[in-house]
Amino acid sequence: MAENEKVLVVDFGGQYNQLIARRVRECNVYCEIISYRAGLDAIRAANPVGIILTGGPNSVYLEDAPTMDPALFEMGIPVLGICYGSQLMSHLLGGHVCRAPEREYGKTLVHTSSQSPIFQNVSRDTICWMSHNDYIETPAPGFMITAYTDNCPVAAAENREKNLYAVQFHPEVLHTQEGKQMLHNFVYNVCGCKGDWKMDSFVERSIAALREKIGDGKVLCALSGGVDSSVAAAMLSKAVGSQLTCVFVDHGLLRKNEMEQVCEIFGGDEFEMNFICVDARQRYYDKLAGVEEPEKKRKIIGEEFIRIFEEEAKKIGRVDFLVQGTIYPDVVESGLGGESTVIKSHHNVGGLPDYVDFKEIVEPLRDLFKDEVRQAGRELGLPEYLVSRQPFPGPGLAVRIIGEVTPEKVAMVQDADAIWREEIAKAGLESQLSQYFAALTNMRSVGVMGDERTYDYAIALRAVTTVDFMTAESAEIPWSVLQTVTSRIVNEVKHVNRVLYDCTGKPPATIEWE
Ligand code: XMP
Repeated sequence: MAENEKVLVVDFGGQYNQLIARRVRECNVYCEIISYRAGLDAIRAANPVGIILTGGPNSVYLEDAPTMDPALFEMGIPVLGICYGSQLMSHLLGGHVCRAPEREYGKTLVHTSSQSPIFQNVSRDTICWMSHNDYIETPAPGFMITAYTDNCPVAAAENREKNLYAVQFHPEVLHTQEGKQMLHNFVYNVCGCKGDWKMDSFVERSIAALREKIGDGKVLCALSGGVDSSVAAAMLSKAVGSQLTCVFVDHGLLRKNEMEQVCEIFGGDEFEMNFICVDARQRYYDKLAGVEEPEKKRKIIGEEFIRIFEEEAKKIGRVDFLVQGTIYPDVVESGLGGESTVIKSHHNVGGLPDYVDFKEIVEPLRDLFKDEVRQAGRELGLPEYLVSRQPFPGPGLAVRIIGEVTPEKVAMVQDADAIWREEIAKAGLESQLSQYFAALTNMRSVGVMGDERTYDYAIALRAVTTVDFMTAESAEIPWSVLQTVTSRIVNEVKHVNRVLYDCTGKPPATIEWE
């Protein structure tokens, strides 16, 4: 595949580092994250047109602080240092970095210079996000100060001749109101990028590359109906058509109408492939009967999935390639990209390669962030409801039914969930929420319906906002929406007589109820 122009984010362990790469890509410039430990040769080998040094939790003047070979600044490649990155650049080039008299944290008014290429089309007084204990007291020789705040004499500095730029604040976070413009300025005005990272051409080139790689080989894909596996399947279908077989398992724990929707799209005319929908509902209900413990449920569901997939694979015979919907954050979070130490614990198809006989794994979305995956899905002709779908756990509704799973309880939670989703859509709240669903509590209580006493279940509604799903806030839903949903659920869903709204954040709760 022809190479895109590339900006490299050198990761020093800061919390916003994936965001930097995302923002650069939003400017239509391809961007990858690499750990600072990879060293200069790896950076050179990546052949970047620009380098961004990230923030990080350390102090440059401490003995074990992460560092870089200063030859980095002599390679003739433009460098932008952010927060720790800016301090490190100054420190290595002879400036003075020390503990600031006052820690600067939060939205801060920054005064910028009109001379700097980084601040073109940026206001002279602009709000930026600061989060630092140290600061640059004196910039390195050859640098001039291009921004300051009331507490920070060097909020930005640059050596234009050498194309080195340092900003103390975080242009990548949305709290920095003109941050995107600043990053745009760096990649276009300083690095001279043309902006060749576009989803339409990515999709086109990926299809061509997959075609070449796969030749006349057979490809197998486990399709969950989630965004990643759907986009991966759609892409492979466009690349190799009927050489692809997709296996979709209905474990009876899907949302209402989900099985029908997935079958309609992938079993229809738009995508050429062998589409197998396995109706394993009863098989799952049998396995789950009497099981109450969440982790046990998860384990049963995962194992059964592998077994079914294996059975289907055997029917197909030998396959050459297995598709996985791995995306870029998975790569970074499994420690292969930057400095992130978080290992993803929820993986829909974990364990598959051990059980299926195949030659190679193909991961067509490996380079993409989630929003780019969605964009690729649109380019491939997938419907909007599928590409903008919220995350859905692999064990499905089993983790939204407290205690034992029965077909009756699945129906209850499916119906309540469908009402909740419908009313959220009607109220136009979808785009403000990261994840929302109904859960069935294992609690029954007394109520009254007409003249009759009832003893029925309580449904819990959940809606959260989050950036990374590691922490989350319970969303503020207008009372009128909650009232409408409540009255619809108790009227339309049999055996539910109470509706609760979960106001808990994560932590201390988790997003799912189990
Ligand atoms: P929690 O409940 O841990 O959820 O706050 C964080 C995110 O992960 C999803 N989740 C799962 N996904 N298998 C999955 O594939 C699971 O067992 C699982 N449990 C939680 C959850 O929906 C949320 O997006």
